[in-house]
Amino acid sequence: MRKKIIAGNWKMNLNATEADKLYLELKEIEKGKAEVIIFPPFIYLDRFVNSPGNKLKIGAQNCCQYASGAYTGEVSCGMLKSLGIEHVLIGHSERRQYFGETSQILKDKINLALDEQITPVFCCGEPLSVRENEQHVKFVSEQIMESIGHLTPDQISKLVIAYEPIWAIGTGVNASAEQAQEMHLAIRELIFHRWGEDISDKIRILYGGSLKASNADALLNMPDIDGGLIGGASLNAQEFKNIIDTANSIV
Ligand code: PGA
Repeated sequence: MRKKIIAGNWKMNLNATEADKLYLELKEIEKGKAEVIIFPPFIYLDRFVNSPGNKLKIGAQNCCQYASGAYTGEVSCGMLKSLGIEHVLIGHSERRQYFGETSQILKDKINLALDEQITPVFCCGEPLSVRENEQHVKFVSEQIMESIGHLTPDQISKLVIAYEPIWAIGTGVNASAEQAQEMHLAIRELIFHRWGEDISDKIRILYGGSLKASNADALLNMPDIDGGLIGGASLNAQEFKNIIDTANSIV
């Protein structure tokens, strides 16, 4: 049985006061069956990770594709590791779309994160035009093979995948449970063909795109959906807790 993950992607939201408030509300969450990870902006990572009594898992939203050096404004995987960060989002569609991150750049980031024993949460997902042409499985399969297809069985087994259809991100229109399940199964089959049954059985594939308390039950109960990567709804403590409660209630 794969342990569910509920991950909150804060994106570039909340000033320091607001971020502290949300962190303090989430800090009180009782430990349940699901793994909970929050991804605040870089600038808040240190104070949360090192906050006295911190039990929340804190991840980074991005990392640099270079290990160190003259890359003004960037943050390396080594720096994240030195803070105690254990998860990093790689390949979010907003990074691909607005910051020109290519499959090769994402591959380099994945390699560096794994070198530092940081778990990459590799994001993939198709735009609306691709979905409308029914090319979504092919499109996402290519994204996966281009950036993580080279990994060894040992490396891929450390990874988490997040399927996030771009048309569902921040739009309020989630993929239906059936649409998401179809893609998650296709991804699991791809992993099966490339790395075998043991790894495809164990790898966790999260769904992201307008996931909220009201649709969490339908989505998280699908057999190949192992949790959620949540943007907007993770900025409200109560809403996020309700999603966690739903995940905890699934056997
Ligand atoms: P959303 O974002 O939940 O606001 O749609 C999800 C994400 O981009 O990770």
